[in-house]
Amino acid sequence: MDPIYEGKAKKLYTTDDPEVLRMEYKDDATAFNAQKKAQFENKGKLNKAITLLMYQMLEEKGVPTHLVADLDEVNLLVKKVEILQVEVIVRNLAAGSFSKRMGVEVGAEFEIPIVEFSYKSDALGDPLINDDYAREMKLATPEECAFLKKQALVINEVMINFFLECGMKLVDFKIEFGKGSDGKIVLADEVSPDTCRLWDATTGEKMDKDRFREDLGGVMAGYEEVLARVSKALG
Ligand code: TMP
Ligand code: ASP
Repeated sequence: MDPIYEGKAKKLYTTDDPEVLRMEYKDDATAFNAQKKAQFENKGKLNKAITLLMYQMLEEKGVPTHLVADLDEVNLLVKKVEILQVEVIVRNLAAGSFSKRMGVEVGAEFEIPIVEFSYKSDALGDPLINDDYAREMKLATPEECAFLKKQALVINEVMINFFLECGMKLVDFKIEFGKGSDGKIVLADEVSPDTCRLWDATTGEKMDKDRFREDLGGVMAGYEEVLARVSKALG
């Protein structure tokens, strides 16, 4: 069966239920808008397992997601939603494109988290946008933008505390939201070391996709350690 959508790290397939899709997590890794590419054995499996546990943890804290059920090693069943073309990034510490753009040392702490929007467009390299761009480009209404920001900050609070319990600092992350047929906006896509910067709380060691972006080696060892800690905290 052909996927109805294929992204850089996941594929989506229809199921017998028109309201439910199968989301397959791939072993492909890309960085810098796919200028850098690789495959890591087990990445799909690890990211599926981590996303499942994070979604379950967030749901318990009152954050709705598109999760329907766990299916198998690399597949989740998810509610069919229309993904908003606005990516929401939350930053607790300076890193990545923020440090580069602003000339701020990596690791500098923000007094209050920064929320950023970017336009989900591979062709344009996910450019930074604001509420006004989102409104005029019909990506999201002002009310939806306000909701995305509020919800992203709630998710940030829950995840900061949860990852701290796991001995990790949540530096920043990117999330996506989807709109269901009922008009409700829920967390969608994935929550994994591909989309979150996570540092060991004691040593500061990087445990996320920066290991790939920066050629640090031990990429899957980092993801495995994240999964082990998340599983233990929820176990
Ligand atoms: P950035 O510092 O490169 O803008 O990344 C911010 C956060 O968003 C970081 O945790 C990695 C994540 N991210 C994605 O999930 N997908 C992307 O395409 C990019 C650029 C970043
Ligand atoms: N996921 C993005 C890409 O493929 C960028 C990144 O995560 O660094 O290029």
